[in-house]
Amino acid sequence: MIIGHGGNKTELARELGCHVDEIIDMSANINPMGPPERIKQVIQDNVSVIQHLPEPDARSMVQGFARYHDIDPDTVIAGNGTTWFIYTLPLALKAHNVLILGPTYSDYADACRMHKIEPEFWIAECENGFAPDLEGVSKMAAHADLVFICNPNNPTGVLLDPAFVTTLLQRHPGVCFVVDESYLPFVDDGEELSFIQAGPFPNLLVLSSMSKIFAIPGLRTGFLSGAAGLIQKVNAYCQPWNVNALAQIVIQEMYDHPEQMARFTDKTRAFIAREKQWFLEKKQDFSGLWPVSGHTGFILARLQDQTASQVCKAVGQDRILIRDCTNFHGLNHRFVRFSLKDRERNVKLVASLKKALAHE
Ligand SMILES: Cc1ncc(COP(=O)(O)O)c(C=O)c1O
Repeated sequence: MIIGHGGNKTELARELGCHVDEIIDMSANINPMGPPERIKQVIQDNVSVIQHLPEPDARSMVQGFARYHDIDPDTVIAGNGTTWFIYTLPLALKAHNVLILGPTYSDYADACRMHKIEPEFWIAECENGFAPDLEGVSKMAAHADLVFICNPNNPTGVLLDPAFVTTLLQRHPGVCFVVDESYLPFVDDGEELSFIQAGPFPNLLVLSSMSKIFAIPGLRTGFLSGAAGLIQKVNAYCQPWNVNALAQIVIQEMYDHPEQMARFTDKTRAFIAREKQWFLEKKQDFSGLWPVSGHTGFILARLQDQTASQVCKAVGQDRILIRDCTNFHGLNHRFVRFSLKDRERNVKLVASLKKALAHE
């Protein structure tokens, strides 16, 4: 198994000789509000479902997603997190030449390598705020059969203009574009920017993770939607019972109550906007760290003098885990990423970063 992810909470707790619950994990990009109360209740009320096999194709959950987005359920597959799709796509689509817009989430490249494909990268520059250049990307996409685009991007937080993606889709009809929208629910008016409803494109697939917005990474649920022909190819690789029984019940319940979901999403967006504004104001009190301007609750920041490993180690001593971004292709030892939490924990982060950055 390839595990290219960052921070390990258990390892830090072991190093510090404390309980894992004492670690403030700001390295994982999940909703700082935690899961909706309703989800916890649904799990408690439905524990007995684990005694039975769930629907093999998670049909009811798929129908919920399709109804919510007003799309054909036959253009949707539910999976064991979007990770399952990321690792299956290169194989199912028989890709040979994969292009990845970076710096980005490392699993796209790891998935390619699992299938013996060495991907190409188009790397955006820090100097340009990590915004990709359409002409540069388009030139490379012309030689690819599969392109991964993360929008908004992890770890840069960059949000693309929909016209950027539309132009690529139109210019390269023979290339499959996978748009990972796992963090789009955190963005104001994310629904309008989503490509889930972009029906007519025969070369588009969209990834939607439930892990991030609902803070349920342990439940393992996500969706793939898009062009019917491509969905059919991926479906041929799907195993029965790909989504566990509790996850199916929870997600069905969420889509049965769209108004509750919308309320939760709105609250999340307001929460993140407030904490981010607070952090950026506090950040003016200390130097040595420059946040890249992005559209997500997680923040990529460039360090001036210190290395990511030094800063992560220093804040680690305060039992705070942030992401050392050295191993992101296209970044280096001067980048860290952290996900803001509630005010109490964000205050601790600011104090710890200030202290860490004051050390030469
Ligand atoms: C951009 C992006 N896509 C997909 C995933 C995978 O999430 P999951 O498999 O839980 O849906 C992650 C996880 O960190 C991610 O950052």
